[in-house]
Amino acid sequence: MKVTPSMKTFYIETFGCQMNAHDSEKVIGTLVSEGYSQVENLEAADLILYNTCSIRDKAEQKVFHRLDTFKKNQGNGKIFGVLGCVAQQEGERIFERAPYVSLVAGSASYAKLPEMLVQLEAGNRRVTGLSLDTEEAFETPFTRRDNPHRAYITIIEGCDKSCAYCVVPFTRGPERSRTSESVLKEARELARMGYLEIQLLGQNVNSYRDPSPAGLDFARLLRAVGEVEGIRRVRFTTSHPRDFIKDIVEAIEDNPVLCNHVHLPVQSGSSKILDRMQRLYTRDDYLRRIEWMKNARRNISITTDIIVGFPGETEADFEDTLSLLDEVGYDSLFNFKYSRRPNTPALALEDQIPEEEKIRRLAVVQEKQRGIQIRRNSELIGSVEEVFVEGYNQATGQWIGRTTQNRMLNFVHPAHAGPKDGETLAGSYWNVRVTRASPNSFAGEAVN
Ligand code: SAH
Ligand code: SF4
Ligand code: F3S
Repeated sequence: MKVTPSMKTFYIETFGCQMNAHDSEKVIGTLVSEGYSQVENLEAADLILYNTCSIRDKAEQKVFHRLDTFKKNQGNGKIFGVLGCVAQQEGERIFERAPYVSLVAGSASYAKLPEMLVQLEAGNRRVTGLSLDTEEAFETPFTRRDNPHRAYITIIEGCDKSCAYCVVPFTRGPERSRTSESVLKEARELARMGYLEIQLLGQNVNSYRDPSPAGLDFARLLRAVGEVEGIRRVRFTTSHPRDFIKDIVEAIEDNPVLCNHVHLPVQSGSSKILDRMQRLYTRDDYLRRIEWMKNARRNISITTDIIVGFPGETEADFEDTLSLLDEVGYDSLFNFKYSRRPNTPALALEDQIPEEEKIRRLAVVQEKQRGIQIRRNSELIGSVEEVFVEGYNQATGQWIGRTTQNRMLNFVHPAHAGPKDGETLAGSYWNVRVTRASPNSFAGEAVN
């Protein structure tokens, strides 16, 4: 760490997906290595950073709302920076909209953060990092990981698809994979440091293509990470259906370290809408991948994302989505109303669906899925699952656990009523018998 005359402080708030959460861990580590210290309170910060998301209009508005709240701080010596997807999308327009902002940088520029900090410290009030034509992935040895047991590893950045509704190709740039050597080196270091779980990250993790001579595809990389000594669980998110090959299912079948959970966003059950969305697969293509998982030797939990109200989605198309939910039987899903985003091809489409109708469809999906989860979850009562303990809930008197399928299974332990004298079960694994099921979680008791 550099020695500086007086410690500079920063505050950071993160919006959006796990990629952003992990970017923030890397940004924090970089700032600390540059002599800054993190504070949890805005008032105490010299530098205030928002790592932003622009996936839907609401997410973007949240950021500007936050910035406006602090307008009053303008001129009191604080420096504001906007990072992440809104920064990349809006670029220098942010300086117009929020003139007290001094730094605007997208994720493809974070490797240059130290230089940008120097410029800010020199008094430059219009510092930008907006170039997208980079081959670089943001790798740093300084990452400050939030969770003491589970660590993220970014294996691929950006996106080369062009789904008609989506801003990500504009905010994150073209796809860049890290070499398998560097991914495996990080995984081994994490294991040495005592991390037990690894989560591989990418907008589409399974589009991974090793740029080094080893030339691993995603399934082979997954197998290799699963063999790193000391790692108990490996998760990965998000998978794109188009690039989801059977080898991934076979890798999961062969190694119990690889968690039996796949998040495979379908977006719509109608092939017509999938085509309009430019998703590059049909309903049948998608269902074939589901079949592979259902026929697997391990019980793979499947979750998804659904967009309702994409332009041109008729009642019949929407019914196709509902029937797909029945056919697949997801363990959970994220459900969104289509949101019009800048620069995206879908802006030009006609047949926009009225807001009230989107709200109605959202509610119908939610209700249907609730029924599916009640039914599926009750089937787990009586079974014994291995959980990883994440903490303790004082209010319910239960330990918080997560199964390999990524389900929350909270439990009581006869010999450990709660954390005592600094002793906690957090970070350990227990077998738990499921005694109760609700739509979103389970309760149980530890067994020997
Ligand atoms: N790369 C992943 C998705 C990442 S974005 C994939 O292709 O599956 C996360 C989710 O946000 C998407 O799956 C989609 O359901 C939702 N989403 C993205 N753009 C959206 C928009 N304009 N309106 C509503 N939901 C959107
Ligand atoms: Fe967006 Fe499609 Fe890329 Fe996913 S695959 S990030 S939805 S453009
Ligand atoms: Fe949001 Fe950017 Fe992630 S738009 S969802 S933070 S990639």
